[in-house]
Amino acid sequence: MAIVYNENSRTFLLHTKNTTYGMKISRYGNLLHLYYGQRIPDENLDYLIQLHDRGFSPNPNEAGNDRTFSLDFLNQEFSTDGKGDYRSPSIQVVNPDGSRIFSGKVKDHRIFPGKYTLSGMPSLSFQEGEAGESLEIRLLDQESQGEAVLCYCVFEDKDVITRTVRFENHSDKPLRLERLMSMTLDLNAGAYDMITFPGRHLMEREFTRVPVTPGLHAVGSSRGASSHQYNPFFILCEKETSEDQGLCYGVSLIYSGNFLMELEQDQFHKLRLNAGINPKDFSFLIGPGESFQAPEAVLCCSGEGLTGLSHRFHDLFRENLCRLPYVKKNRPVLINSWEAAYFDFDEEKLLKIAGEAKKMGVELFVMDDGWFGSRDSDNAGLGDWKVNLKKIPSGLSGLTEKIHAMGLQFGIWVEPEMVNEDSELYRAHPDWCLKAAGRPMTRGRNQLVLDLSRQEVCDYIVSFMEEMLSEAKIDYVKWDMNRSLSDVWSGALPAERQGEVFHRYVLGLYRVLDQVVLSHPEVLFCGCCGGGGRFDPAMLYYHPQIWCSDNTDAVNRLKIQYGTSFAYPPCCLEAHVSTCPNHQTGREVPLRTREIVAQNGIFGFELDSTKLSEEEKAQCMEQSERYRRNNAKLILSGDYYRLSNPYENLYYNAWSYVSKEKDRALVSLVITEKEGNDAQRFLKLRGLKKEAFYQIEGRQDRFSGALLMQAGLPIPCGLRQYEGISFCLKEV
Ligand code: DGJ
Repeated sequence: MAIVYNENSRTFLLHTKNTTYGMKISRYGNLLHLYYGQRIPDENLDYLIQLHDRGFSPNPNEAGNDRTFSLDFLNQEFSTDGKGDYRSPSIQVVNPDGSRIFSGKVKDHRIFPGKYTLSGMPSLSFQEGEAGESLEIRLLDQESQGEAVLCYCVFEDKDVITRTVRFENHSDKPLRLERLMSMTLDLNAGAYDMITFPGRHLMEREFTRVPVTPGLHAVGSSRGASSHQYNPFFILCEKETSEDQGLCYGVSLIYSGNFLMELEQDQFHKLRLNAGINPKDFSFLIGPGESFQAPEAVLCCSGEGLTGLSHRFHDLFRENLCRLPYVKKNRPVLINSWEAAYFDFDEEKLLKIAGEAKKMGVELFVMDDGWFGSRDSDNAGLGDWKVNLKKIPSGLSGLTEKIHAMGLQFGIWVEPEMVNEDSELYRAHPDWCLKAAGRPMTRGRNQLVLDLSRQEVCDYIVSFMEEMLSEAKIDYVKWDMNRSLSDVWSGALPAERQGEVFHRYVLGLYRVLDQVVLSHPEVLFCGCCGGGGRFDPAMLYYHPQIWCSDNTDAVNRLKIQYGTSFAYPPCCLEAHVSTCPNHQTGREVPLRTREIVAQNGIFGFELDSTKLSEEEKAQCMEQSERYRRNNAKLILSGDYYRLSNPYENLYYNAWSYVSKEKDRALVSLVITEKEGNDAQRFLKLRGLKKEAFYQIEGRQDRFSGALLMQAGLPIPCGLRQYEGISFCLKEV
């Protein structure tokens, strides 16, 4: 049994293969958190609740004269608000009398097979052959009749617990929700570090590990998208936790909009971790009989260090998240026109790029921005999704046919959520974008954001996307989104509901994606938001792959892809070989190194193939073939190992893929800093079978797994700065 309820101790235990999660109904009906960590038997955990008489820690009325019971220091599963717990709360409700009090007590619970339902937003599901259990606990605030329904689902084999909360209004008056966290986790005092992934456009998801100190620490987004600046993934680990050992917790939020992940170390050094929709700029009016659904949070605990945590998230996201068949299939090697031509192209030029790309082993040609309306620069045209016949005289279907006739698949770029003022769409519907009446609007990349909280706007996007997909045989769609939201105000909602717009935008987007993406399983959708601005699990539910960053510099990408790898499997990260000097940094990096870095994900090219020499094209052909031969399968199903940390090891960065059977591995390394008369370094491999013997492809000598992992392989001293190597190992 994955979920056990003990009537006597009123304790819930949720077991996964290697972890246990415990909570208990207190004598006054509060739901307290007991334990989360490595698996333990079904035993009594009551002693974990230690009561004290503490100054300035109020006691709830029902405790009478008992001065040792205070919500100020008890670990709570879902906090109350306004009842003497001063830590950052799980919920904030404004009651009809204006009070901001919520005191949820356990009303009832139920345990049932399968997964709870969560409507309107992406969530995880069991794959065929998997089973699991769910638990629902209702916490009722007697006075307001507001109810928080806590939902848990156990993915036993994956060591994962998913959580969400639904708020229901059972009163006859509206309740205003100002905060609803998807999960709260209270832990006892300990020496912890927190790992987050802050960044910026062109330098996303930088691995950042710092000690947890007293006070409130938060990452989040208020930009409308999950953002380049912070990622909805958070790791809490013990001080001594490394890649290979130690306890760590990972929290991920399946949501693409404003989020908050906060960690509070309180006066007694206890920890509270909250994850959910960002309460900044959020409020939702819940009418009588109505409910509000929080997005799903994913909780995972590993006793085997950070690699163990990443492997669990990778398997989960590969197997239980994305709804499209492509997620399990090899993806075509592509060439994208953006850095090759930007807006400066016509049909002839595109066909030439595609023709030469064929000689590079490319299988899919993608026409990026600039093909529609009056889109000759990024100042005009967004919203007018009709092909520009001056640039593409054969039209969309004609061009597609020509590309297909070359033996290539055809892909296209769209940015459906945006509009330029200089467009037919804006002239026809100036009220369809987010902007407050009477206030000057804020532009970003000279464009405005469509108001996806409006049904008619969503309908319009669905209809032009359907038209486009039926007009031509399109094999791949790159779904872009190139600015943060501002002036968030919807003409379709009354004043008291304007705090709902950010979230309604995200719900509108999911409705659109449900209709467009899920009804076209034959099309490969790639998520994009100026590169990695919406690199989150909710987007991965719709897109098997995401353009990881607009930064194609191979050396910068080492850090970006390193940070991304903590939560996200490399098979969802698109990476391209681009031209030299690099367009973002001006750096020169050998073609082979650019390949090695781009093959740490879904491989493609982002350059003008007509400008490559015959020799370079032949090299690119070898790269495509190597990718299909060596990487494709390992990326889809193997285990990923970080072999060095680019923030600590400045000399090289290395990683590997190991097959689940541990009989094959692919090892890659790039020299990042070269010194004269260099030290002889050895690269220690990971994840192999100690007792097995392995041979490096193309060589005769054999090494035991134990030796490769403990002594390592020599890194050739002759490698120059930015040179890279990559090799396969096979068990013999
Ligand atoms: C941002 C994307 O990340 C780029 O790859 C490219 O598609 C541009 N937008 C086009 O405007």
